[in-house]
Amino acid sequence: MKVTIFGTGYVGLVTGACLAEMGNHVLCVDVDADKVARLDRGEIPIYEPGLEPMVRRNHAAGRLMFGTDAAAGVAHGQAVFIAVGTPPDEDGSADLRYVLAVAKTIGRHLSGYTVVVNKSTVPVGTADRVRAAIADELATRGVDAAFDVVSNPEFLKEGDAVDDCMRPDRIVIGSSSERAVHLLKTLYAPFNRNHERIVLMDERSAELTKYAANAMLATKISFMNEVANIAERVGADVELVRQGIGADPRIGYHFIYPGAGYGGSCFPKDVQALERTARAHGYEARLLGAVEAVNADQKRKLFELIARHFGGAVEGKTVALWGLAFKPNTDDMREASSRRLMETLWEAGASVHAFDPEARAETRRLYGERAGLVLCDDPYAALEGADVLAVVTEWKIFRSPDFARIRELLRTPALFDGRNLYDPEAVEQAGIAYYGIGRGRSIAARAD
Ligand SMILES: NC(=O)c1ccc[n+]([C@@H]2O[C@H](COP(=O)([O-])OP(=O)(O)OC[C@H]3O[C@@H](n4cnc5c(N)ncnc54)[C@H](O)[C@@H]3O)[C@@H](O)[C@H]2O)c1
Repeated sequence: MKVTIFGTGYVGLVTGACLAEMGNHVLCVDVDADKVARLDRGEIPIYEPGLEPMVRRNHAAGRLMFGTDAAAGVAHGQAVFIAVGTPPDEDGSADLRYVLAVAKTIGRHLSGYTVVVNKSTVPVGTADRVRAAIADELATRGVDAAFDVVSNPEFLKEGDAVDDCMRPDRIVIGSSSERAVHLLKTLYAPFNRNHERIVLMDERSAELTKYAANAMLATKISFMNEVANIAERVGADVELVRQGIGADPRIGYHFIYPGAGYGGSCFPKDVQALERTARAHGYEARLLGAVEAVNADQKRKLFELIARHFGGAVEGKTVALWGLAFKPNTDDMREASSRRLMETLWEAGASVHAFDPEARAETRRLYGERAGLVLCDDPYAALEGADVLAVVTEWKIFRSPDFARIRELLRTPALFDGRNLYDPEAVEQAGIAYYGIGRGRSIAARAD
């Protein structure tokens, strides 16, 4: 099938590569000419495991093309995907400007029957707005071209995006058009062989499904952070509590890790956007507001522990920071907890020596060369001249560190474990003060 994808970000590029891998002819269109030129040279602008060889292979085979020409994009695809960003607006609701710009572009160039597939995460009712924008442009041109708009939200996870796309848990298709559904079922058939993954529904339900999924996941995290904060105060260890509740199959072990708050390009903005959608429809989504508020506090947690450790005197201190990306296996720093920590440390007059396996270039792009930030090529190099260590992202490389070396290199050995990666006793036995999230037992022991 001939497919066009508008937007070559995490979703668009991965979707394009996976569809090309299945033999489709995919044209990816982006307004960022520099990004398109890099992709054409075989350079992948993001770090996503497994993506580079897949893009190169399909590009070389002529099944995956990149361009900036929107007219050529609309002419190419029987299915035209919209996979552009939907960042938060000033008031937290989803900014649809990029989605609607693509809709207008499609309307300006559409000729034959086309299925317009919205993959961006968009508020309920956006399919109608996309349809209206295309229809307006067609009316202006005096052209009567047939098209359908389908809501097909994306559930891939950064860091695992290629695998998620090749083996999706579910494929949600929101449409009332049999013709459009047939085309999408054909396109997705190779991803749907093992068992039925397609969940058919109306467009509005599909749009809400995406927000509900992300809001549920964010809720699980904030819930566990809430429990962690209680555990800390009552002298319990949230890691034991986590295992104790995860054993109940109705709860399960997935996604109940306490930590330094959730970040990324999706959870923060999607929880906010769903809350704003509810409000716009006269409903106060109190739970969502609480999920956000708990997370905002949680992102301050490591700083508070560090400040408490130094009796409030953080100025002039140097904090080694392991992990900058918002989660492992990505270089995405959008809303990353590390950013909040670094920025708060800088405000308090402290410096940061940071290491991340993949996100150093992105950190440099975001913050430039600035006082108080040294980016290191090795985790242990970040410890040289640092007072304490904070671990913010749970990259595998941080899981079994050389504690003796950490103790030797830090000026005042203390470890702030923002993802509860370590056994507090083992760390303390190595001569390093340990601070975790919701690990009241070790804090209580130290206070004794
Ligand atoms: N990143 C994720 O893990 C993820 C997962 C599921 C859903 N989503 C949703 O998918 C959408 C895209 O997210 P992303 O992370 O891939 O975004 P991104 O910011 O990585 O990429 C968006 C791309 O769209 C391009 N673009 C903007 N306007 C354009 C236009 N008019 N024509 C062509 N290209 C244009 C930008 O240049 C950019 O390359 C968002 O709505 C997001 O919420 C993201």
